[in-house]
Amino acid sequence: MTSAIHVQQVTKRFGSVQALAGVDLEVREGEFFGLLGPNGAGKTTLISALAGLVRLDSGHIEVMGCDVIADYRNARRQLGVVPQELVFDPFFSVRETLRIQCGYFGIRQSRERDAWIDEILENLDLTSKADANMRALSGGMKRRVLVAQALVHRPPVIVLDEPTAGVDVELRQTLWQFIRRLNRDGHTVVLTTHYLEEAESLCGRIAMLKAGRVVALDTTANLLRSFSTHALRLKPMLGATLPTALLRRAENKEGVWTIAFDQFEEIEPVLAELRAAGCSLDDLEIGKPDLEDVFVRVMRGKVEAGAEVRA
Ligand SMILES: Nc1ncnc2c1ncn2[C@@H]1O[C@H](COP(=O)(O)OP(=O)(O)OP(=O)(O)O)[C@@H](O)[C@H]1O
Ligand SMILES: [Mg+2]
Repeated sequence: MTSAIHVQQVTKRFGSVQALAGVDLEVREGEFFGLLGPNGAGKTTLISALAGLVRLDSGHIEVMGCDVIADYRNARRQLGVVPQELVFDPFFSVRETLRIQCGYFGIRQSRERDAWIDEILENLDLTSKADANMRALSGGMKRRVLVAQALVHRPPVIVLDEPTAGVDVELRQTLWQFIRRLNRDGHTVVLTTHYLEEAESLCGRIAMLKAGRVVALDTTANLLRSFSTHALRLKPMLGATLPTALLRRAENKEGVWTIAFDQFEEIEPVLAELRAAGCSLDDLEIGKPDLEDVFVRVMRGKVEAGAEVRA
């Protein structure tokens, strides 16, 4: 089977910043794939390289078997990119914007084209705005138009670079319903997001980038399993600090400390240590580790997760 996206030994430097430092990645046809990483990790640079917008220093990228440099036009046709930055032409209406986008891909006016544009508008809840000028749209609505623009040429591979930043809850749900449907219909989807619960529920496989390197790559289920079976979340009272012995095994996320454990018997000694140290708690919760726990841990460099990450 052809891979939807094949990234081999890709490097890119901007001045003193090594944005991509040897990335290898394969996304298979039909996957819903997550590309995660902190600000500046290189996600957008990689996506720009996929779309032929950034010249690589070395390495190769193919989209549906087409080299993004040697066979640029065909590679670009295979790909629909929703960019992170809001870019739009203020002089056109939503519908005109989508028709112009069709033109870039050589799609002439036809009943089929207009029906597809209507369907996209409907699914992104933009029908009532179809004839509104782009300038007159709110930020979230402009983002919906970017999603629509990426889909007009029915690309087999859809790449969304933080499509839900600044988008309200209702549209997020409609957007994901629509993208899931496209994925079920056979489209490959690659998603970057800082909303890790979105990635956890949508993506079958996830790569985590850090400083231009892949530091975790596995199925979402394996990444979650690799952490441990349970998580104890503690929020100390204002002014209280965790005893040093616990600090060593705990991860801090916005004032809440997470301690990973496998057996419930491990909780008792933790509570005893807290009592001995006089550390009072504001909140305590036992749950399953979520992708955020895995992410924090991977980014701290304590683990390189996933069978597919090279040593
Ligand atoms: N055109 C450019 N010129 C100079 N430096 C750049 C350019 N584009 C990206 N960079 C740098 O490359 C690094 C990777 O940036 P990139 O935009 O790919 O990160 P990202 O993972 O998409 O982050 P975010 O989550 O904030 O969107 C950053 O240090 C950034 O400052
Ligand atoms: Mg980015």
